[in-house]
Amino acid sequence: LCCAQVEQILSEFRLKEEDLKKVMYRMQKEMDRGLKLETHEEASVKMLPTYVRSTPEGSEVGDFLSLDLGGTNFRVMLVKVGEGEEGQWKVKTKHQMYSIPEDAMTGTLFDYISECISDFLDKHQMKHKKLPLGFTFSFPVRHEDIDKGILLNWTKGFKASGAEGNNVVGLLRDAIKRRGDFEMDVVAMVNDTVATMISCYYEDHRCEVGMIVGTGCNACYMEEMHNVELVEGDEGRMCVNTEWGAFGASGELDEFLLEYDRVVDETSLNPGQQLYEKIIGGKYMGEIVRLVLLKLVDENLLFNGEASEKLKTRGTFETRFMSQIERYEARGSTSKPACFELLPSRTDCEIVRRVCESVSTRAAQMCSAGLAGVINRMRESRSQDTLKITVGVDGSVYKLHPSFKDHFHATVRQLTPGCDITFIQSEEGSGRGAALISAVACKMIDKYL
Ligand code: BG6
Ligand code: GLC
Repeated sequence: LCCAQVEQILSEFRLKEEDLKKVMYRMQKEMDRGLKLETHEEASVKMLPTYVRSTPEGSEVGDFLSLDLGGTNFRVMLVKVGEGEEGQWKVKTKHQMYSIPEDAMTGTLFDYISECISDFLDKHQMKHKKLPLGFTFSFPVRHEDIDKGILLNWTKGFKASGAEGNNVVGLLRDAIKRRGDFEMDVVAMVNDTVATMISCYYEDHRCEVGMIVGTGCNACYMEEMHNVELVEGDEGRMCVNTEWGAFGASGELDEFLLEYDRVVDETSLNPGQQLYEKIIGGKYMGEIVRLVLLKLVDENLLFNGEASEKLKTRGTFETRFMSQIERYEARGSTSKPACFELLPSRTDCEIVRRVCESVSTRAAQMCSAGLAGVINRMRESRSQDTLKITVGVDGSVYKLHPSFKDHFHATVRQLTPGCDITFIQSEEGSGRGAALISAVACKMIDKYL
């Protein structure tokens, strides 16, 4: 149905297996450089140690408060951690979602967060309790311990003042103190990938990788301690937050970046950074689609060569529209998507769907190259013929897009011979994960006091 000229333009999004292998090997090389003391500073993939280790020595039981900041929504949760049969943890939650206003995202974010906690405690009549708190903070943090780490740089459109280069837990504690109407004991801070991995680990002990494909894109995995040169000690494993979204900052993706990717990057709050994430993350994919549509209009291949004001405006084509359009057309419906002010013809609808499909398929394939890089590395370092491994996954793109998952799983498997991979979707993973880590941290504190 789509004309040859449209297909020609979209063919730039197609990646061959050899392209994906190239991305995978380069990603592995950056991962290696990120882990090594000597090359860590210059590596684009930072491989940040999380201080979450492979051998927790039991944990506390009781009530924990969890915060989840950095995805689409900010969440406050009450989590009950308890011991069940066979030493399994049983966890129950109450939770509340808060949207983050633009001025908080780019201004006094931590004051806004403590205002939300205060509201949550009021609602559940818990103001008087000093609970242990686990903080899922989904940005690159250089940890000194599980409850201490500096924010390296904001990502995903956040830009709150005075945070970069500072201890994030300290910023939260100060904001709570400034309010003065409740007390909290911040015991652990984790990345969302880590919280996701931990929450899935309690269901499946083979879960040693956590991945997010949502607003942003990132993964963590259990690395052999002797490879984690930034932390002393050689025994066991430690979870490493790869921060792979930053891949590409040293030109590793240059040959794959299209004109649309460059515009998305140049008009972002962090130009030159997070280039891999800008191909895959929900924060950016819709915008890539909008730019391709504009190009097609310019070439008189779409909408009779006329773009609506909406289509000309940055950020108006949200990534969730891609899911709607692709799902909708997949069902074979003939009516028209409602996200344009113009009256599209059937051919227009088909072209729009093809654009969405091209962008989301490229994202899924690019993301597969990253995960295959991680899993192949794990298989090699464990010298196993077949590596049986489970990956815990969360994020709106992975969960809501109609075909991302399938493309992604198939391509990862194609790139990882000798690996037997199970994917599990995490539900409320960050809240439960942060609470479980906090419970372990509390036990450690008890032990050393
Ligand atoms: C949520 C997790 O479900 O998924 C968050 O609780 C995570 O910790 C988020 O950041 C990622 O997805 P999105 O689409 O909200 O960015
Ligand atoms: C961004 C953040 C990273 C997070 C990911 C998914 O890449 O830098 O820390 O895990 O988004 O939310």
